[in-house]
Amino acid sequence: MLWLHQLYAVDEAVIYEAAKRYYAEIMMPFRNMIQRNLEKLRGLRIDVIAPSHGPMYHKPSFILEAYGDWVFSAPRNLVVLPYVSMHGSTKAIVNYFVSALVERGVKVQQFNLSRMDIGKLSMALVDAATAVLGAPTVLGGPHPNILYAAHLLSALRPKVMFASVIGSYGWGTTVTQQIAQMLSPLKVEFLEPVVVKGYPREDALRALDRLASEISERHKKHGLT
Ligand SMILES: Cc1cc2nc3c(=O)[nH]c(=O)nc-3n(C[C@H](O)[C@H](O)[C@H](O)COP(=O)(O)O)c2cc1C
Repeated sequence: MLWLHQLYAVDEAVIYEAAKRYYAEIMMPFRNMIQRNLEKLRGLRIDVIAPSHGPMYHKPSFILEAYGDWVFSAPRNLVVLPYVSMHGSTKAIVNYFVSALVERGVKVQQFNLSRMDIGKLSMALVDAATAVLGAPTVLGGPHPNILYAAHLLSALRPKVMFASVIGSYGWGTTVTQQIAQMLSPLKVEFLEPVVVKGYPREDALRALDRLASEISERHKKHGLT
């Protein structure tokens, strides 16, 4: 027997989270198509939405408004920062950079890719204006988890407008070139990366300050909130 609460989207907080994950992981690349279909629904009186799978919506405005926000709204004043750190140098860079952004009024969501639910990263990408990848160098290029994050960004095609790279290397690296190349389908503005040898020193911290200021200024210029 099916109970009412199993048929309908009753617990909106739970449903919102699940619906946003579904949108982020699967539907985000098809944002334009969703926009066109939402336009078609404008002006119709809709009593119930009964999708072919998932719960029915007896209050359709809830899910229609959520999708409207995801596909039409400008991105938020938010930096998404996936990173990996094997020995702590990139982590020190990330820690300083997060504080520098927060001091400038920019929100940040950081994700340690060595232990995380990748769906959470996708969900943050629904809202973010900027993505910065925190990449240590492994075998000449970005750590494999960062390669995966860069692939995900490029495949999901979020509303991100700006991107950059921060991280640490030992003796020689192509992280910036590889990540810029992987993100090229996104048509984002690529901001000056901060990739430093070993542990970050004073000059690296100043460069991180500059990158945080660049991001903050661009978000303000676009009126992002
Ligand atoms: C498995 C492995 C491979 C590495 N390969 C490179 C490399 O090809 N080029 C390089 O410059 N550094 C290389 N390094 C050094 C790291 O990039 C360097 O120690 C960096 O500071 C690590 O950052 P982390 O402390 O955030 O992990 C390698 C380190 C490890 C553990």
